[in-house]
Amino acid sequence: MTRLALVTGAARGIGRAIAERLAADGMSVVAADRDLPATGDGLTPLALDVTDRAAVGAALAGIGRPVDVLVNNAGVYSDRPFMDLTEADFEAMLSVNLLGVFIVSQEVLRTMPDGGRIVTVASRAYLGARNMGHYGASKAAVVALTRTMAIEFASRDIAVNAIAPGLVDTPILDGLSAERRADLARLQPTGRLGRPQDIAAAAAYLAAPDTGFVTGQVMIVDGGKSLGGVWM
Ligand SMILES: NC(=O)c1ccc[n+]([C@@H]2O[C@H](COP(=O)([O-])OP(=O)(O)OC[C@H]3O[C@@H](n4cnc5c(N)ncnc54)[C@H](O)[C@@H]3O)[C@@H](O)[C@H]2O)c1
Repeated sequence: MTRLALVTGAARGIGRAIAERLAADGMSVVAADRDLPATGDGLTPLALDVTDRAAVGAALAGIGRPVDVLVNNAGVYSDRPFMDLTEADFEAMLSVNLLGVFIVSQEVLRTMPDGGRIVTVASRAYLGARNMGHYGASKAAVVALTRTMAIEFASRDIAVNAIAPGLVDTPILDGLSAERRADLARLQPTGRLGRPQDIAAAAAYLAAPDTGFVTGQVMIVDGGKSLGGVWM
């Protein structure tokens, strides 16, 4: 039977590119988002807030068959210096980026068949990043959760991995000025920001049935930026 994938945050940006790529690779794809979800070839749209456990449970029951591939992509971002951060900033960030991943993964894993795959979109900011104390902490926590799930489900050939993208050109960067974007692109060894399709290619690899021996890993997809001074 065709493998069924659930991609969260799939209305736009990286999630949309992942949903389209998995559909192009022959999977049936449920494209979920709290905003108007994506429609398109091979995509079934689903309105879903990943922080609402009851809604997640009901949505999975409505899909009517177990999910083979889960891509936890839904996430939020804001840019704030450490001394300006508040508890409310942390709560907003952790509720989607960490608890959302926890809730959807736990609900999906209740019925995920052996051989399933979970791919979580973290961020290179898990290494630490200026103005991203709350965001980076949420993504570092997601990496720990990813590794924990990998350990607990390895015996069932359920591989669980994270992708840590560098800066990718999506609407999440809309708050950045053109000048700041140009500065950031200049810092890239590739001279360009990532494209959603760059991340989708990594997700397709980690979602494939024959890559299950790769588990508990963080795949940094950032055009080499995290190699730092090696490029200078
Ligand atoms: N763009 C980047 O530079 C970048 C870099 C590293 C990591 N990421 C991560 O990649 C993922 C996707 O980011 P993007 O750049 O495509 O952002 P985006 O803002 O373009 O898309 C995020 C999507 O997630 C959805 N979403 C947010 N909260 C949700 C919720 N509670 N329930 C369901 N859907 C929800 C939004 O509606 C949106 O469609 C995020 O987890 C983000 O942290 C992005």
